[in-house]
Amino acid sequence: MGLSCGNPTAIASLKPGEVVLDLGAGGGFDCFIAGSKVGATGRVIGVDMTPEMIMKARRNVSTYTAQTGFSNVEFRLGEIENLPVADASVDVVISNCVLNLSPDKARVWSEIARVLRPGGRVAVSDLALLRPLPEALRTDLEALVGCVAGAVSVSEMRSLAEAAGLGSIELRPKPEYVDALTDWNDPLYQRIMQALPAGTRPSTFVVSLDVTARKN
Ligand SMILES: C[S@@+](CC[C@H](N)C(=O)[O-])C[C@H]1O[C@@H](n2cnc3c(N)ncnc32)[C@H](O)[C@@H]1O
Repeated sequence: MGLSCGNPTAIASLKPGEVVLDLGAGGGFDCFIAGSKVGATGRVIGVDMTPEMIMKARRNVSTYTAQTGFSNVEFRLGEIENLPVADASVDVVISNCVLNLSPDKARVWSEIARVLRPGGRVAVSDLALLRPLPEALRTDLEALVGCVAGAVSVSEMRSLAEAAGLGSIELRPKPEYVDALTDWNDPLYQRIMQALPAGTRPSTFVVSLDVTARKN
């Protein structure tokens, strides 16, 4: 249901009536939280490129509607590099631990800027690099799927948002998050640990980062 590295719906300060877009919605966890916050007059669109995740998220809609009484969340199959969303139609773009997975991050940020209405905002939680990863980890496909090897540096994250024309960019690193939330018994993370230089941990290299920005 959730594979997150932060809490974008909290940093987004969502208000009733807003239109929210979740990039890489997965099972829909953040969409349903957002839906409760924007209420009956608001709307939430979750986009994911994996048909299985879209099916899973859509199955969760009936439980959400039964619990909240809202029919304001929908899921669309698509890529965050080519969003199936109209220009200037969204108040808030959120995303949780997904942007690092994209092979074309500049394109994703330009899509964010395209779909936001003027004055709209973005609130993203993602993983970012504090220093370059060891080569053995950088090229490890499984590390990529584990949201590590595709991450950009904290300063690159700012540059990507700036290059897309967004303003009021704020980056808040949360160093404690990676150590606290990583499941060290998971075979993937055990393998990542083995690829790290002695005496280092994933949090030596990777930080959970909250990014907020605004379209002027
Ligand atoms: C780590 S999971 C995070 C899911 C969800 N945001 C959460 O917090 O639980 C990454 C999700 O992003 C989706 N995804 C990865 N790359 C994508 C892309 N380029 N376009 C659309 N979805 C993508 C995957 O299918 C997966 O569901």
